[in-house]
Amino acid sequence: MVGSAQPLRQLADQRGIRIGAAAAPTYFSESQYGATLAREFNQLEPENAMKFGPIHPGPTSYNFDPADTLVNFAKPNNMSVRGHTLVWHNQLPSWLTGGGFTPAQLSSQLQDHIRTVMGRYAGQVYAWDVVNEAFNDNGTLRSTLWSDSPGIGLTATAYIEQAFRWAHDADPKALLFYNDYGAELTNAKSDAIYAMVQDFKSRGVPFDGVGLQMHLTTNTGSLASMEANLRRLTGLGVQVQITELDVRIPVDSSGNATAADLATQAQIYHDIVALCLKFSRCTAVQTWGFTDEHSWIPGTYPGLGAALEFDTNYQPKAAYTSMTSAFQSAPPVLASATLANAASYASQAVAPGEVVVLFGATYGPAALAVSQPDESGHLPTEFSGTRLWFDNTPAPIVYTRVGQTAAVVPFEVANQTATQVSYEHQSVRSDSVTIPVAPTLPGIFTLDASGRGAGAILDPSYRVVSQTNPAHRGDFISLFATGGGVTNPPSFDGLVLVQPPFAAIDSVHVAIGGIDCPVQYAGGASGLVAGVFQVNVQVPATALSGPQPILLTVGPASSAPGVTVWVQ
Ligand code: G3I
Repeated sequence: MVGSAQPLRQLADQRGIRIGAAAAPTYFSESQYGATLAREFNQLEPENAMKFGPIHPGPTSYNFDPADTLVNFAKPNNMSVRGHTLVWHNQLPSWLTGGGFTPAQLSSQLQDHIRTVMGRYAGQVYAWDVVNEAFNDNGTLRSTLWSDSPGIGLTATAYIEQAFRWAHDADPKALLFYNDYGAELTNAKSDAIYAMVQDFKSRGVPFDGVGLQMHLTTNTGSLASMEANLRRLTGLGVQVQITELDVRIPVDSSGNATAADLATQAQIYHDIVALCLKFSRCTAVQTWGFTDEHSWIPGTYPGLGAALEFDTNYQPKAAYTSMTSAFQSAPPVLASATLANAASYASQAVAPGEVVVLFGATYGPAALAVSQPDESGHLPTEFSGTRLWFDNTPAPIVYTRVGQTAAVVPFEVANQTATQVSYEHQSVRSDSVTIPVAPTLPGIFTLDASGRGAGAILDPSYRVVSQTNPAHRGDFISLFATGGGVTNPPSFDGLVLVQPPFAAIDSVHVAIGGIDCPVQYAGGASGLVAGVFQVNVQVPATALSGPQPILLTVGPASSAPGVTVWVQ
């Protein structure tokens, strides 16, 4: 079996999102099953193995074996595991439903269950569907064992909130999701979920995201309505994950669908992936199963089936191909991206020649790629398929990976008040955002790259100044910074400076512990790209001992406080 040139998981890695499948450990013994999962998906979720009944079959007995098998399959295959589900009205064991327990007893049983199951998989399951399907289609709360029949003693959504609090206590690092079906469009159910999430977020209830199941037919309803729903949910600052995608279509008695229905289905798969890729907070697309060989649909909806992206022989269907093309053609999103000074992380504007980091772009190389100068000594303006545009000028790229790209603002933006920034990967370009331009925005590089604490400063012997190697009064030390603006003579975009004369920066002042220091040199730094600059200053004779604040002023702007130099 051959998938696309790039398996789904590789395409999803370039988007910084997860592509998952629900799976049943009983099928891992089928060679095609495990091989396809490992090749195509970077996320795995047990279709049934972590549900209350299967995992907790007796009052004091747990059956962890199937769930362990799944987790142990995921680990060597570098797959993240989503847990499903802790609080649900289905697949409850009869000892629980028929036990005649009081709300107080149910409450402690549920807390215990959450603590036991989440505790076992802490560090191995990164996200949980804490509560599943708690609302009716009309937006009212479903009547269940946990809510009111008899319930755990809490009214309305307070029982859901309680479950999230217990889940947070059980594994503080796990992402906690509410998951439901039929809440894809804006409708009464998704309104109710939205209101609950808004309430939870406003009161600080531990809550990370909403799972939209997406058990779809070819009559999905309006994509615009789905988009509006994702926009409002992600607007609350929570993640959205597509958790149970499948698209059921009519099949004949041999399980075969028509070409037309398969094509319609493929378009829907495309549209759902593309929809998720519009939102940086839509962090996973997962299908409910992955092969038509094993799917819940035919058993539940006689006459319907063929709902997944692989056929019964594990061959990719049109649905699969259309998902790959959505991954390859949906534009990167910059909406919640920030462009920050690579030294200080200040992000209010950009300056010519400033080394900046773009955080949050949703398409790029899965693994970090660091550029090298070409034969002419310049850093490339297209690297690993990535470009960062300032108006119509591509910036020299320092490094790139999905979600984080460092580049040098082209000197061409000097004298402009603003620049249009857009990002491109594999020739697919984002829309642009307008960023103000300032003449200078100095930031001093720091040793731990945090933007604070000890500066990246060398002593006269080119050794790093630190607590154990402090600078001495009267020494000339060299600090490294960016955001110094244009140089005199002008610098060239992306040129890695090899020999003097360096382009120098005018009007530079440095203060150590509030005392002005003589500046010996300010300009380009040997071996570093134009835009990183070096300032050689003399430590004042009157400087105090210890970590002294160091401030760099270039033209109209100064570096942020919080950077220090050790003096003795
Ligand atoms: O494990 C037993 C097996 O021992 C027994 O011999 C067999 C006889 O019927 O049943 C097996 O359990 C079945 C289980 O699937 C595993 O195959 C249950 O009867 C059956 O009810 C169960 O169905 C699951 C269903 O949830 C339960 O409501 C489906 O596989 C599963 O796909 C489905 O998943 C749900 C999500 O959790 C929540 N969202 C909707 C989705 C589809 O209904």
